[in-house]
Amino acid sequence: TNPSLLILPGDGIGPEVMAEVRKVIDWFGANQGLNFDVSEDLVGGAAYDVHGVPLHDDTMAKALAVDAVLLGAVGGPKYDTLDFSVKPERGLLRLRKEMDLFSNLRPAQCFDALADFSSLKKDVVAGLDIMIVRELTSGVYFGEPRGIFEEGNERVGINTQRYTESEIDRVARSAFELARKRSGKVCSMEKANVMESGILWREVVQKVRDTDYPDIELSHMYADNGAMQLVRWPKQFDVIVTDNLFGDILSDCAAMLTGSLGMLPSASLGAPRANGRPAALYEPVHGSAPDIAGQGKANPIACVLSFAMALRYSFDAGAAADQLEAAVQKVLADGARTADLMGAEGGTPLTTTQMGDAIIAALSA
Ligand code: NAI
Ligand code: MG
Repeated sequence: TNPSLLILPGDGIGPEVMAEVRKVIDWFGANQGLNFDVSEDLVGGAAYDVHGVPLHDDTMAKALAVDAVLLGAVGGPKYDTLDFSVKPERGLLRLRKEMDLFSNLRPAQCFDALADFSSLKKDVVAGLDIMIVRELTSGVYFGEPRGIFEEGNERVGINTQRYTESEIDRVARSAFELARKRSGKVCSMEKANVMESGILWREVVQKVRDTDYPDIELSHMYADNGAMQLVRWPKQFDVIVTDNLFGDILSDCAAMLTGSLGMLPSASLGAPRANGRPAALYEPVHGSAPDIAGQGKANPIACVLSFAMALRYSFDAGAAADQLEAAVQKVLADGARTADLMGAEGGTPLTTTQMGDAIIAALSA
């Protein structure tokens, strides 16, 4: 049987960029015999409009059953006044929670043709290809106690940084597995100098490496130094593994080393299942972009590259992923630009569909 893929286009530009990914999926089926059992369903505002909830139970069940989920984006002004419990974002949060997606993969990859687009010097970013693995379901965003409490005659805001050994262990494994598909090099970042959770983090990551991943070259760095090193010379890294809070900040920082929001893919992975594949949700980093929705202006590359990540990390189709990434490199090198990738020099930007067609043409070339 073919591997299964659930597509959730969502709202705003989500369906627009997803239509281009459908072309890519069909191309691999028609030209390389790489076939998927594809189904499509609603999420976010689109689901709310039909079902009154941002994720129907049936959709949730499907997401748990498939090999991978590919999501466009959710949200939009139409839904801003909805009750918190049915807001589009809740659909995405439910997916992440019930699929137990604890490992968030955020690549920072520089496409040569866009190296000038970075705010950093060209030689600092040219050829950059690193991956931040952020722990996504624990740490200071979830730890108890949390809240705003009365204390004497003033209030105190409290969040708790809390990590268990098993939470650290599983995200470390996820990073080491990933590194085996890349350079074999991992840098773990925490603040063991001032935080107990950081001391435990460092110990557990090292132990997992020594016990089960002796082939991995592991280093440790304090997260503040990591931030400096990321901007100074990011090419010293391959895979970086870090906690939820540091990962939130470091992954946004790393992403912007290379340019537009319209270019950034992501993956969120859970534990390996019976068939060896992890629960997996792939999505562009960007949102539903209501300011350009419905105008054919959206850059589909972030969503296309999210599918490339699915090929690599869910479907063991690394060669196809390489091929798709090379096609994106090629169209950019040939000068193809959606509006978000155009500098002050101007020119006529490609539409979403034209960019998708250019990628298909590059695949076929
Ligand atoms: P956004 O990412 O949707 O847009 C930010 C800016 O980047 C906009 O100017 C937009 O036009 C541009 N942009 C984003 N993706 C682009 C693409 N593929 N091609 C060209 N330009 C692109 O973030 P914003 O405006 O803060 O949020 C809009 C809506 O999206 C909100 O309802 C928000 O809650 C939701 N959102 C959803 C996310 C998700 O589904 N994972 C993530 C972030 C926001
Ligand atoms: Mg962030």
